[in-house]
Amino acid sequence: MDLMEGLLTRRSVRKYETERKIDKETIKEIIKAAQYAPTAHNKQPWEFLVVDDKEVLEHLRHIQRWTSFAKDAACVVFVCGDTEKSFSRNKENEKWTFIDVDCAIATENLMLAAWAKGIGTCYCGAAPMQRVVDDLKEYLHLPENIRPFAIITMGYPAETPKQPEGRYNPDKIHWGKW
Ligand SMILES: Cc1cc2nc3c(=O)[nH]c(=O)nc-3n(C[C@H](O)[C@H](O)[C@H](O)COP(=O)(O)O)c2cc1C
Repeated sequence: MDLMEGLLTRRSVRKYETERKIDKETIKEIIKAAQYAPTAHNKQPWEFLVVDDKEVLEHLRHIQRWTSFAKDAACVVFVCGDTEKSFSRNKENEKWTFIDVDCAIATENLMLAAWAKGIGTCYCGAAPMQRVVDDLKEYLHLPENIRPFAIITMGYPAETPKQPEGRYNPDKIHWGKW
C-alpha cells in the first residue's frame, strides 16, 4: 500500500477478529513509525504502553465511555507524553506546551502504519479530558510525569467501514487570501 492510498483509505475500525493477536514484532514496527513523527524542538516526548489484558480492555469503558468496543481489540496502545521532556514553557508570563500536539502526530503515524499492515485502529480520546487523564493515570499506575494522551484500539478488522463520501471539500482551501 503506498502512502497516499493508506492516507485515503484508513477508517476507524471498531470490530475486530477477536481471537487474532498481533505479534510483538509487528507492534514494534508500528510504534517505530510513530517515533518517526515530527516533534516540537525534536523532543520526542512520547511513551507507548501496550496492553492486551482483557480485564483492562473491558474496564476502559468505565473510564472513557466511548471505548466499549475495546474489549474485542487485540490490544490497546496508550500513547502518552512525558511532561518533563516536552517542549514547554512554564513562566509567569508564558505558559504553553506542545506535548499534546507531538502525541497527536505520532498517533496518526501509528494508525497509518497499522493500516499499512492490515490492522485496524480506532482513536479514542483521553487528553484533554482531565477526568479521563486522571483516571487513566491512576488505573494504569502511570508515573506523575506521564500524561495519557490517547487510547488506540488495535486489531485485525472484522468489518470494512464505508469510505466517506464528500470528505474532500475544496471550499475549505483558501488560496492566497481569505
Ligand atoms: C480526538 C479524537 C477522539 C476520538 N474519540 C473517539 C472515541 O472515544 N470513540 C470512538 O469510537 N471514536 C473516536 N474517535 C474516532 C472518530 O469518531 C473518527 O475518527 C471519525 O468519526 C471519522 O471517521 P474515520 O476515522 O473513519 O475517518 C476519535 C477521533 C479523534 C480524532
